[in-house]
Amino acid sequence: MCAKQVKKEPRQVETTGHQWDGIEELNNPLPRWWVWVFYATIVWGIGYTVAYPAWPLITGATPGVIGGSTRADVAAEIERFDAANSAIKAKLVAADLNAIGSDPDLAGYAERAGAAVFRTNCTTCHGSGAAGFVGKGYPNLLDDDWLWGGTMEDIHLTITHGIRNTTDPDARYSEMPKYGVDELLDATQIGQVVEHVLKISGQEHDAVAAEAGATVFAENCAACHMEDGAGDRTQGAPKLTDAIWLYGGTREAITYTVTNARFGVMPNWNKRLSEDDIRAVAFYVHSRGGGE
Ligand code: HEC
Ligand code: HEC
Repeated sequence: MCAKQVKKEPRQVETTGHQWDGIEELNNPLPRWWVWVFYATIVWGIGYTVAYPAWPLITGATPGVIGGSTRADVAAEIERFDAANSAIKAKLVAADLNAIGSDPDLAGYAERAGAAVFRTNCTTCHGSGAAGFVGKGYPNLLDDDWLWGGTMEDIHLTITHGIRNTTDPDARYSEMPKYGVDELLDATQIGQVVEHVLKISGQEHDAVAAEAGATVFAENCAACHMEDGAGDRTQGAPKLTDAIWLYGGTREAITYTVTNARFGVMPNWNKRLSEDDIRAVAFYVHSRGGGE
């Protein structure tokens, strides 16, 4: 009873005059305030699209009368940052490669900028902080075992032109023959030379086969890896007498290398990084550990 008294009788609300089969449409308009907020959002929306970049066109979008652009804001911010560093960058580019370390300002900048360049460009292959192998074939840049050399000049050249890429004619280049695939050695000879490599790297080996392998090595491998297996940096031929392996030092891995050869490729960075960034990252790599 009570509820019925409070409730408005349908009759008290105006109807729109519409009626279907005795069902009438009551006229319950939206609250005024709601309607005004609704109109306000439309006006604001139109204003916004006039003021700011909004409507997509075939290429780009309407620029808007006040032309705000977050992209331009970022570009301006980068420019401001670059301008602030331009003096030290110019100094870095002009400096003698070996003098960078003795100038505290330059060294500090190169260390920080180099670390940032390394993080964005090099960690995918060389591991974070150059700490070591992400995968087979990517050298550890922290040790003093260098394929192509560990002086500032060597590292700078390696980074600038890269290794065995097809994009820079000045890339470092060398190619180990595919002894098995191209039938330069037969399976017996490969087995023997592998035993020899196991022997000179101080691993368990077959002494008789290794003896024969020494001759195979002298005739086929010494030109690049040197008579004693110490390697040759002018050809990027790794040292074979230590426990540091680019592709693995087990009997299987060495057999695979001799049979198929490997072809480690590093991109050249002279097209992607500025000279000051290349110098900074060279300094960073050089100062990590085994820089010479
Ligand atoms: C796509 C993978 C890749 C990227 C990215 C890469 N490298 Fe390399 N890097 C290699 C490979 C592979 C080698 C070894 C090539 C060989 O077998 O001689 C190498 C070798 C090097 C060497 C020579 C090491 C030695 O022992 O002589 C240096 C120095 C080097 N990289 C520095 C860098 C720096 C600095 C960057 C970032 C700017 C970088 N690399 C990015 C793949 C890469
Ligand atoms: C023309 C020069 C050249 C000759 C000749 C050559 N090598 Fe190599 N060798 C290389 C180079 C360069 C690499 C590094 C390959 C790469 O990074 O792609 C290499 C890599 C290797 C590796 C891998 C080392 C590691 O750290 O994983 C082994 C093992 C090896 N050579 C053994 C031999 C043996 C055995 C012979 C002779 C049968 C031989 N090489 C002949 C240039 C040569």
